[in-house]
Amino acid sequence: VKNRFLCKTCFLVFLWLISTAVIAKKEMEPLFISPAEVKAGKVVAQANCAQCHGVDGSLIKDGQPNLAGQHADYLFSQLVAFQSGHRIASNGEHRMKSLKESALKNVAIYYSMLDLDNPSKKKKARKKNKMSPMEAGKKVAKKCQQCHGKTGNGTFSGMPRLTGKHQRYLVSALKAYKSGTRSDLMMEKAVVDLSENDIENLALYYASQKPISSNTNAIGDESKGREQSSSCGGCHGEVGHSVTVEVPSLAGQDPAYLIKAVNAYKKGLRKHSKMRSAVETLTEKNIANIAAFYAKQTPKIPEIVQPQSVEIIAEKCDRCHGVNGNSRDRVVPSIASQSEAYLVNAMVMYKEGQRGNSMMQLMLKPLRVVDINALATHYASKNRRSVIFVNDRR
Ligand code: HEC
Ligand code: HEC
Ligand code: HEC
Ligand code: HEC
Repeated sequence: VKNRFLCKTCFLVFLWLISTAVIAKKEMEPLFISPAEVKAGKVVAQANCAQCHGVDGSLIKDGQPNLAGQHADYLFSQLVAFQSGHRIASNGEHRMKSLKESALKNVAIYYSMLDLDNPSKKKKARKKNKMSPMEAGKKVAKKCQQCHGKTGNGTFSGMPRLTGKHQRYLVSALKAYKSGTRSDLMMEKAVVDLSENDIENLALYYASQKPISSNTNAIGDESKGREQSSSCGGCHGEVGHSVTVEVPSLAGQDPAYLIKAVNAYKKGLRKHSKMRSAVETLTEKNIANIAAFYAKQTPKIPEIVQPQSVEIIAEKCDRCHGVNGNSRDRVVPSIASQSEAYLVNAMVMYKEGQRGNSMMQLMLKPLRVVDINALATHYASKNRRSVIFVNDRR
């Protein structure tokens, strides 16, 4: 019985090896394009795809990809991925199930041969925003001035200093107010109409400003606070200069704000499990002492990460996707003139690991939402060139 079982396993492994070899071969072989296949593909498209993609392969509903003029081999690879379940369409369904391989090949060939309406024909080029991220941040910061001061150093006791904190921390704090995971009446109103771009620019602006030491009179005992804050140093840095981007620096922080924040964690009003357990047992006196200690420490400007312009990022993408997103590689999709909303969607799916391609996932991991939006706008506005690569010899 044991032998028979082993044999069965051997057989299954053998089958698996053969099938992967066949699949690998199928992906390697370029499609051949002839008029007969284009014609047959049109019939498949009319019956199965036109309701969403149009017979012309150009966008009907926003958020769907343009198929016209895309490489046939790339299109075919995606249809196979949909059919096998390796790729799941973001709308959940993609009716490929009943189609034969030859129909998938033909419809891929058909769409690849069509001309795409280029955006220069459809819409005027967008006006470029000439303001640098820093200038843009300074401009929006005018809305915050009455409470946080011109440079983020606060206007009255109890206000947090925004300077001396890493920009990623500021971004996540602003997003937390916006999504409601952190609540404060004044801040809720202030963030309500900030865009993703505004938030990034504000964070860059405040993180770059020179921090001014707190001159509010602290009520606690500074030297006792030094001792009592020893357990905080592991995360917040020895004298309140944090080295991790998620942890805010405390050096020079307004003491009244620090007391308020610690109490908010303690009572669970501000939710963070690590902070809650770090301050759970502190007495009111301890907290005041720690606040006095941190208020006296000299704050400093954190390491600033200058955002890369979309042109610089796009240079890296163009290495695979071709100049201005016109791919010359049959298995790399052209992204020039692709639907903007579809591009955003596709990039977010790679970033979050919902669409599996390790290379693309790696490229998109470090990008911010604003970079993804800007890249989508960039490529959507480029012209797609007509077919660059065709295999027409049998
Ligand atoms: C019910 C509407 C619908 C129908 C019918 C449909 N599609 Fe799609 N298709 C979509 C949507 C929506 C997406 C985008 C999926 C995503 O965002 O992941 C898509 C994506 C694709 C893609 C991926 C494009 C890329 O750039 O990666 C290909 C290829 C494609 N469709 C081909 C076809 C073909 C060929 C047919 C007919 C056999 C078809 N589709 C039928 C809605 C449809
Ligand atoms: C009406 C007064 C007011 C205005 C206007 C205001 N804020 Fe605030 N801000 C506060 C208060 C009060 C807090 C502390 C809230 C808390 O304890 O969570 C705060 C907290 C913050 C924090 C969190 C600081 C930290 O260390 O965690 C950030 C970041 C921030 N504000 C940025 C901004 C920005 C950017 C604007 C302008 C778009 C703005 N604020 C406008 C009053 C204001
Ligand atoms: C395990 C790591 C860790 C330890 C230990 C820790 N903290 Fe924190 N602290 C954090 C993180 C992470 C945040 C940001 C949480 C958030 O986003 O709300 C934070 C936030 C804070 C804030 C809010 C600052 C602001 O700008 O809003 C204060 C105040 C604070 N900690 C004080 C302390 C004190 C005092 C101690 C020691 C008694 C301490 N922390 C120990 C990780 C830690
Ligand atoms: C090393 C080569 C490589 C680099 C660099 C690269 N890509 Fe890709 N990209 C690919 C390949 C291959 C695919 C097809 C993957 C698949 O089958 O899902 C792809 C797919 C995509 C798609 C989906 C297109 C569609 O029609 O569904 C988008 C959008 C995209 N890349 C954008 C980018 C952007 C933006 C960058 C730069 C930040 C970038 N890529 C960098 C190779 C690359």
